[in-house]
Amino acid sequence: MTISNRRNFLTRGITGVGAAIAGSSFVSTALAQGMCVVTPRQTAGPFYPGENLFDQNVDLTRVPGSPARAKGQVVYVTGRVLDQNCRPLEGANVELWQACASGKYKSQKDPNPAPLDPNFRYWAETFTNAKGQYIFKTIIPGAYPADTGWTRPPHLHFKVTKLGYKEIITQSYFKGHPLNEQDLILRAIPARERDSVVVEFGPSLQGHGYEPGSLMGFLDLTLVSIR
Ligand SMILES: [Fe+2]
Repeated sequence: MTISNRRNFLTRGITGVGAAIAGSSFVSTALAQGMCVVTPRQTAGPFYPGENLFDQNVDLTRVPGSPARAKGQVVYVTGRVLDQNCRPLEGANVELWQACASGKYKSQKDPNPAPLDPNFRYWAETFTNAKGQYIFKTIIPGAYPADTGWTRPPHLHFKVTKLGYKEIITQSYFKGHPLNEQDLILRAIPARERDSVVVEFGPSLQGHGYEPGSLMGFLDLTLVSIR
């Protein structure tokens, strides 16, 4: 996706969450390489909330009825769901789940003693529009202990499904975070595919409905047809 197309995408493609994008560093990995990198599969981990719990409120930073916003740096994560030929897929289901700013999941399975954030919604889902586009407003999750000597870097979990395509469960990372280099799950991805899930975030353009001080990053998610 070119920068111009990204602007058009956010101006016309998604309503209610903003209207434009700043910065010149958001260049699709797929286009830069002249091909669409099929999104690498990664573990769902133990904290998947269950598909029945997702709802279509794509703003995770506020709990309806509560005046306070979730703790943490607000980010918009957006992009397209594509097929392996780089064609946008309409109506794909995109589920997002993650930890709050302290690194805690809303799951009884999470042994992390860090506190939950009562003002954070820990998951949401959406469906791509006619241009294959999706967007979520959330916060950068905290790092959390995974095992002795291993701390997971901040990451977002995704599950993407569409009839006729292989389901993908994956995770995305925040470019430049020092824990990325040591993460066993990220490093298990072949090097040529790794960049496709490491997202660079930059300032959201102000004056177009984005929250002041927020960041935005682009993540295209590419599925493979089963036909
Ligand atoms: Fe996780």
